[in-house]
Formats: sequence, structure tokens, C-alpha cells
Amino acid sequence: MLKGKHIILGISGGIAAYKSVYLLRLLIKAGAEVQVVITPSGKEFITPVTLSALSGKPVISEFFTANTGEWHSHVDLGLWADAMIIAPATASTIAKMANGVADNMLITTYLSAKAHVFVAPAMDLDMFAHPTTQRNIDMLRSYGNHIIEPTSGELASHLVGKGRMAEPESIVAQLEDFFKKGEDLKDKHVLITAGPTYEKIDPVRFIGNYSTGKMGYALAEEVANRGAKVTLVSGPVSIKAKHPSISVISIESAREMHDQCIRQFPLSDIAIMCAAVADYAPENTATKKIKREKDEIPVIKLVKNPDIAASLGQIKTESQKLIGFALETNNEIVNAQDKLKRKNLDAIVLNSLQDKGAGFGTDTNKISIFFANGNRQDFPLKAKTEVAKDIIDAILK
Ligand code: C5P
Repeated sequence: MLKGKHIILGISGGIAAYKSVYLLRLLIKAGAEVQVVITPSGKEFITPVTLSALSGKPVISEFFTANTGEWHSHVDLGLWADAMIIAPATASTIAKMANGVADNMLITTYLSAKAHVFVAPAMDLDMFAHPTTQRNIDMLRSYGNHIIEPTSGELASHLVGKGRMAEPESIVAQLEDFFKKGEDLKDKHVLITAGPTYEKIDPVRFIGNYSTGKMGYALAEEVANRGAKVTLVSGPVSIKAKHPSISVISIESAREMHDQCIRQFPLSDIAIMCAAVADYAPENTATKKIKREKDEIPVIKLVKNPDIAASLGQIKTESQKLIGFALETNNEIVNAQDKLKRKNLDAIVLNSLQDKGAGFGTDTNKISIFFANGNRQDFPLKAKTEVAKDIIDAILK
């Protein structure tokens, strides 16, 4: 899987830098083309001579070559790469990455990288466990970076705990797995709905909900990463899709979302209904702003919106898969299973507002998936980007 892949190996200043030499060797052996970028303190641990000999390329560390003034373009490097691995990633480098402190070539390259970034932390157990480090790692995760968890064992300090950089073989295996997954949904079309819908009352007011679209957009990025072409029918949100294989169709109302989905569904292999669709809309939209009348309180008559998921369930063919979401506040399992059947879904993802960290607006979610064949899978609280991976893994299985 790594043959011909362009990989940036970022090395920061930790004892585990000696393992990066072996990591580099394994990457080269697997057929990858590797450009090493090392931080100034990384060079205290391992020499650029060793790294350039093994990679067959000059090692980049400074913004300029001192004697010629030649500028090293982190932008070109960021565009060249198919993946960037930062191993070891020290607490300091992780903090700089999380906050955009671009004071060395490794961080500027990270900020310019369009490719996926893998981060292999390595540090003493207390530094790793510190809430600051954990918060920074969570931030990196929320940006879609892949964290290669350190292992537990004896550390350079002779203390025993979690903080040892993952072994080079394990890092290579995770990278290979990532590139393999990139083929999972090759040539497939996936339709995703995301965000809230706005149901207009008058030119300035609407009925809406707290959905931010984070879960749906994370799913869109995940399926695009696995090779699919994605049509994302999105309600009004403040986030943007990044992957070039995602086409966004922006809508406002449930009716507009419905019409777009009916049009797109026949072209899709999989549809994932993640949007928080308003169940009702005002029967009439006032053409002028409704004024505050003296004694009279206006009554807004509501009419039912179409159930998009159920409509797609009715026209679904044998070869198509339809996945729904259920956000519940009570009687969760019964409600989710009822929706699974009623809407003719193949699977439903349940998240409960009773679980802390789950639901609207958060960066995390805690889900269970119920399948039409009666199977059920439960997951712990995770970043929405990780939840998206679990959902797609489960659907593919
Ligand atoms: O019935 P309920 O709204 O709880 O069902 C949630 C699931 O149905 C979600 O997948 C949601 O996107 C979808 N849905 C829909 N159209 C509606 C209401 C919900 O597609 N009008």
C-alpha cells in the first residue's frame, strides 16, 4: 500500500527520535518516498546525516539554507505529501500544532499539509496524562488528525506508564491500513444529509433546532477519505466541507432537503440521513415581518413536513443501503428500533441527549447502532471524527 506514496516524516526532539530512524527504514523498504523534516531540538537527538542517507534526500530543518539563502517551501511540501507522520511528537510540538505556533519548519509544513496527518506522541507519563497535553491531543483529533496512541511500559526516565512512542512496525501498519481504507468506497456514491432545517415564519424568523452539522460533515469527510463521491445536502451551518470529493447542496427547509434527496438518491449506493429535520413547518410564510399587535397573539398553524428518510425507504432498491439517526431524550432503544422498521432503514444510529457529551453542538458523541438484522453495536464516548469512522466501519461490515 505504501509503494510510491509521498510521506513527510516529522521528527521532534524526544528520546524516541532514535526509533524514527527505523521507522524511516521501514517506510523506504515499503517503497515510499520520504521527506524528513526535523525540528531544531530533534537534531540534538538524531543527526540529519543518518536521516538523509536513509531517505536519499536532504533533511529539512530550517526555513532557509544558510549559505545560499534558498527558501524551503513548506507549501510545496504540504501539497506533495500523501501523508505526514509526526513521530515522535513531543508535548511541545503537539501544543504548537494544536495552536498554530509556526516557529519551525515542522509546524509550518503541518499547517500547509493537505494530506492526512498521523501523530505519534512520545513523552513521560505525567506529561502525557496532563490535562493540557490531553486537551491539545483532543484538539488535534477534532481537526481530523490521526493519533497513534503511545503504549505503556518503561520510559526513558525509568518510570513505568503510558507515553512510549508506538513501535515503528505498528505505525507503518496503521498507515497501510489507512491507505487500504482509502479504497473501501471507491467508485461509490454516498448521499448524506446534515445540519438543521429552517422553516420560515416570515422574512426574519424561522423554526429551527440546535444542530450544527458536525456529525454529518464528519461522516462526509470519512466516506470521501475512503474513496466515495459524496453529495452532502446541508441545512444552514457554519462549517465547511474540506474534501474535494464532497459536493455540497445547500438548502434551508425540510421540503427543499426532501426534493434534493429524492433527486439524488437514485444515483446513490448509500444514503445517511444525519440531518435534524424539522417535523413541522408553518402552513403559510408571511411575506412581511409579523408585527407585535396590541392584544392579539398570532397563531402559527403548522403542517407536517415530509419524512425524507421514510420517503427514501419506500423507493430503496435491493442494492442500496439507507442509514438513519435517532436523537432521543427518553425511551431511546424502543424509539430507535421503531424508526428503523417504520422508515425501512438498514441501520439506525442512536444518540441520547441523556449521555453527557452526546448530541447537538458537541465535538464528541456516544452512539449505539441497531441493524435491520437485529444486531446491535455499542460504542464509548468519542470525537465525532472517530464516531464517523466507527459508523462507516460498521456499515461496511
Ligand atoms: O423521526 P425522527 O425525526 O426522530 O427520525 C430521525 C431520522 O429520520 C434521522 O435520520 C433524520 O435525518 C430523518 N428524518 C428525515 N426527515 C424528517 C424527519 C427525520 O429524514 N422529516
